[in-house]
Amino acid sequence: MELAGKKIVLGLTGGVACYKAAELARALGRAGASVQVVMTEAATRFITAVTMQALTGNTVYTDQWDARIANNMPHIDLTRDADAIVIVPCSTNFIARLAHGTCDDLLSTLCVARPARVPLMVAPAMNVEMWQNPATQRNVTQIRQDGILLLGPDSGDQACGEVGMGRMLEPEQLLEEIIAAFQPKLMAGRRVLLTAGPTFEPIDPVRGITNLSSGKMGYALARALREAGAEVMLVSGPTALAAPYGVRRIDVQTAQQMLDAVLANVSGQDVFVAVAAVADWRVANASEHKIKKNADGDLPQLEFAQNPDILATVAALPKRPFCVGFAAESEQLEQHGAAKRARKNIPLLVGNLGPQTFGRDDNALMLFDQHGHSELPRADKLTLARQLVREIARRADAS
Ligand code: C5P
Repeated sequence: MELAGKKIVLGLTGGVACYKAAELARALGRAGASVQVVMTEAATRFITAVTMQALTGNTVYTDQWDARIANNMPHIDLTRDADAIVIVPCSTNFIARLAHGTCDDLLSTLCVARPARVPLMVAPAMNVEMWQNPATQRNVTQIRQDGILLLGPDSGDQACGEVGMGRMLEPEQLLEEIIAAFQPKLMAGRRVLLTAGPTFEPIDPVRGITNLSSGKMGYALARALREAGAEVMLVSGPTALAAPYGVRRIDVQTAQQMLDAVLANVSGQDVFVAVAAVADWRVANASEHKIKKNADGDLPQLEFAQNPDILATVAALPKRPFCVGFAAESEQLEQHGAAKRARKNIPLLVGNLGPQTFGRDDNALMLFDQHGHSELPRADKLTLARQLVREIARRADAS
């Protein structure tokens, strides 16, 4: 329960994307948050307070003169114990009102009345022309400067039929961003390059050699690094996973492609984390055409060639980033881990504490550095990834 104990004020302003706020309210509740909905008059034209009350289990407020609040000051009452205020969707007009500090209904007034410690996040949702309008852009710059956090917008299909910037983020992405806002910014201003997933080495155009890596640990780490404020680029082998919101992903198949993508992007990176399960060998005599089944029962003869070691290549660069490697040993992790860290010449190596971690949602890790080793006990991969970010940040600071 990522948001257990958190009280979120969810503000709705006028826009078709209000229907997504209903989904978000559910998702916030499932993540453990208590959700207090406040709606502008325009929002009530798109979705009813009844729906939002039923989904959150809390009275919905729309009116600043609502007599149900004992002291008749809902703008104070609703903000003093809030952990965050999130405006979903946030209309062009509401951004303008925020930029000017206007207080002409309950939601705008409570945004101005909120204590400075309560973060305010807004998810813009509007037509592309409205988003690009210079007045909107001026207001967006202003609210950013005032410390208001923008969640999106994204580019894509719009309800009006046009395509472009201004589309609201999806509820799952908004949830990720709200959870991220509560994480400590240990990696702020840092650039991190990661590899994740398996590689795929072709035998012919339809067959290949790969492994059981799901990419879950690498993707969880990419998400945790971004939550901690890093600018994250992920070079990924084939996986079924969606890139975490805000992470730039480059898709590759083979170890050689992974190396090329890493070398093309490594300059200026502060940290490199090699989580990918890279194939040690590729097929040297891969066929250009599909290998036919032979009626005489002759079997294809595969020849192998050594793949480049991506981590060792980066670790040998003259201006190398802080390098972190992973190891999936099936036995004697303690001895092999320490030896591998020394052999790869890297400051931190992370061992997967078996038996089988590939594809699972949980893991346990053993960390090897110049002082010895320590353990991160079994937990889900995102929890471990957040702990690992702390370990990386501390060591990268000291290096
Ligand atoms: O040598 P071994 O494969 O056990 O090392 C594992 C570590 O090295 C992982 O961090 C993995 O991502 C990285 N590696 C690599 N390129 C390879 C093989 C492994 O970057 N060809």
